[in-house]
Amino acid sequence: MKTIHSRYILIVLLCISVHAIGQKRQAIPEVEALLKKMTLEEKIGQLNLLTPGGGVATGSVVSKNVEEKIKAGNVGGLFGVSGPDKIRQAQEIAVKNTRLGIPLLIGSDIIHGYKTTFPIPLGLSSSWDMKLIEKTAQIAAQESTADGINWNFSPMVDIARDPRWGRIAEGAGEDPYLGSQIAKAMVEGYQQDDLTAENTMIATVKHFALYGASEGGRDYNTTDMSRVKMFNEYLPPYKSAIDAGAESVMSSFNDVDGVPASGNKWLLTTLLRDRWGFDGFVVSDYTSVNEMIAHGMGDLQAVSALSINAGLDMDMVGEGFLTTLKKSVEEGKVTEETITNACRRILEAKHRLGLFEDPYKYSDSKRPQRDILTDANKVVAREAARKSFVLLKNENNTLPLAKNAKIALVGPLANSKNNMLGTWAPTGDPQLSIPILEGLKNVAPDAQITYTKGANISNDSAFAKKVNVFGPRIEISQESPEALLAEALAAANNADVVVAVVGEATEMSGEAGSRTDITIPESQKHLIRELVKTGKPVVLVLMSGRPLVITEEMDLAVSILQVWHPGIEAGNAVADVVFGDYNPSGKLTASWPRNVGQIPVYHSMKNTGRPAPGPEFEKFKSQYLDSPNAPLLPFGYGLSYTSFEYGNLSLAKKEINQGESLEVQVDVTNTGDRDGEEVVQLYLHDIVRSITPPVRTLKGFEKVFLKKGETKTVTLTLEADDLKFYNGALDFVAEPGEFEIFVGGNSNASLKGTFTLN
Ligand code: NOJ
Repeated sequence: MKTIHSRYILIVLLCISVHAIGQKRQAIPEVEALLKKMTLEEKIGQLNLLTPGGGVATGSVVSKNVEEKIKAGNVGGLFGVSGPDKIRQAQEIAVKNTRLGIPLLIGSDIIHGYKTTFPIPLGLSSSWDMKLIEKTAQIAAQESTADGINWNFSPMVDIARDPRWGRIAEGAGEDPYLGSQIAKAMVEGYQQDDLTAENTMIATVKHFALYGASEGGRDYNTTDMSRVKMFNEYLPPYKSAIDAGAESVMSSFNDVDGVPASGNKWLLTTLLRDRWGFDGFVVSDYTSVNEMIAHGMGDLQAVSALSINAGLDMDMVGEGFLTTLKKSVEEGKVTEETITNACRRILEAKHRLGLFEDPYKYSDSKRPQRDILTDANKVVAREAARKSFVLLKNENNTLPLAKNAKIALVGPLANSKNNMLGTWAPTGDPQLSIPILEGLKNVAPDAQITYTKGANISNDSAFAKKVNVFGPRIEISQESPEALLAEALAAANNADVVVAVVGEATEMSGEAGSRTDITIPESQKHLIRELVKTGKPVVLVLMSGRPLVITEEMDLAVSILQVWHPGIEAGNAVADVVFGDYNPSGKLTASWPRNVGQIPVYHSMKNTGRPAPGPEFEKFKSQYLDSPNAPLLPFGYGLSYTSFEYGNLSLAKKEINQGESLEVQVDVTNTGDRDGEEVVQLYLHDIVRSITPPVRTLKGFEKVFLKKGETKTVTLTLEADDLKFYNGALDFVAEPGEFEIFVGGNSNASLKGTFTLN
């Protein structure tokens, strides 16, 4: 009995540890054989990632003497180079001129499409359409591999709850559940379960970890949070990407628990490899190893040793590994085994791509013509753009407009190719994008459109200079602001309706694009106010890379269509929605605050011991004196040209046991007079648990199409894991007790059900 018992325990322990370390893959004999032949210097060379410059620089320094370094066996990969011929040349230098002929990884930032640029990721996430998001990633891989690239620095899955942070544009917003689904869709889109195919590439989940929680929303700033918050609210999307098979992870610029991510052993080894079972390779962010000197972690040798010992495998641009690791080995600060392990992971990635078999597999000069910017890809770009738009307001059903309407098209973003692609689209060509004016004319040739600029994006030339580092995004006209305004007002007075295309230039968000004031710039606010005074209905087509504070504009405008930065097909997609060829269906994936003082504000906040009362003020409650607690626009919010009603919420069971799932059904009816899509959302509230629960948190959704008048019964399944959370010991558990669920079209959903977990 005793032996059976201990054997049983052994098996259980074994199962638990296999589960904890994931399915580690077998050693690759070719890689092991190669490692045996390599000198220490050759191994260190593989850990060095360089960018020769020439394209758009994505950091403040570029690498020098790249060709000589490749020949010397000092380079494992390049990024910022593209084109099959150039990549062939680079591979030839590596393969023919080095002792072991090891091919290079060729990386790039393909964040929302390669040449066919899709909407910015925050926009894409607003589609809540996982198949579509996967498709955009798959097209990005098809196009960029045709141009020689085999390794993508995407998806960016950082949870962001501070819209001051410019990089909120690059991710999927505030929610870990939705963020996890999107992370998975993107990894599957890039890697397609077969890295050896010529049109798939390595996905890199970034920025590991917590980069989106930088204090004050200032880019690169420090982050600090409890482990339970980290595990429950910030880490799930990274884990989801890794579970989906992402081959690579990029460490972030920020520190975690006081140690910069690039040198944080708990993060890169204990959590990532030991707990999650990741067995791909970790690359630093751009010079983030060297930047640990400024963080206060020591000199270049010290920070490089700290990084490699923490579990970082590849050093992006900084060359600290290349220049100091040998010395650290000699001085006993780093073992050769550590270096061999890092090198092994990089060689394994090259092997998985099939580069040892054929270093030139991404160098087919016929592919760009065949695979890039195809008509089919542009169709997806248009579809993705219009599905990313969120209708924020539509008084009197002002939208859609008639195709023969007399329109004053106004605004600095109405005819601006330079601002359509959005941040982080260095591989796209802004000149190929369709501006709004052109799109409206394409879709409604009979409309009478008068275009005037009306205002500059900003009148502040010092601000414009900062925004224009990658090209002219804010162009301040020679004409005076008064003259611009006068032209716009004349056009407005002569039209039936005003369509004002306003908001942020592309580089007002994105990396190093943080703002403390997230309103529409004053020059444009003035334009909007004056347009409204004409008495003509004013429709705003709003562009931005973040949630904006639009409290004033929500009152002023009759309709507001949020279009983010829509990508290459911008104008056509906007026109599809403005004229009603497509009924908008996007929903916000980050709450829009009333004012900056509310930040952070997100749907899954906690209750506090003194929750805010109803509308009547009460002293000693958790509230502001000068603003409601609720955001202006909640997570999950978005209107349609039709309307939807929810009813007959039913739960398959009133009680479930641990490990069981629960089916939830609801009837959704299209009660308006147009066909349309609705994102049906399910929120969960765990009433009592050992860690204070959020008031509600997203745990399911489905996007459904309903013909006018149609009712569909939608089934959402709460999986056993959806009831779980990380408790104080960081165990992933579901605790017995009562749960509430809410189902509806946004995070304020009021249709409620309850069940008990035994
Ligand atoms: C810095 C950014 O943080 C990262 O997202 C990007 O992949 C690298 N630069 C390389 O361009």
